[in-house]
Amino acid sequence: MVEPTGGTRLTKVARVQDIPQGQCKVVTVHERPIAVFNVQGTFYAIYNKCPHEGGPLGEGRLKGHVVACPWHDLAFDIRSGVATDGGGYCVGSYQVVVKEGDIFVGGRRAR
Ligand code: FES
Repeated sequence: MVEPTGGTRLTKVARVQDIPQGQCKVVTVHERPIAVFNVQGTFYAIYNKCPHEGGPLGEGRLKGHVVACPWHDLAFDIRSGVATDGGGYCVGSYQVVVKEGDIFVGGRRAR
């Protein structure tokens, strides 16, 4: 389902109850794999491929707002997509909107 809202195209990806607190669900938006995380009831979305060698970030360990890549342990802040341990790595982060129990992912956010 794609719904225009304020000029931004939003894609419904899940219901709130589909992603329990502290968990992640990988969805596809416009053929891109996106990892959607629930941190204390707030949802965040990042590109699901690590910029290092493509590790699946949605399968990484989540601690607070930081996810560690399961392949080589680079860590990313899921609020911004920026690596927390330097090195200049960053991954795309996307707008998330929750409306009437549905989770929508929108466009890539500027840093
Ligand atoms: S692929 Fe993610 S840290 Fe190497």
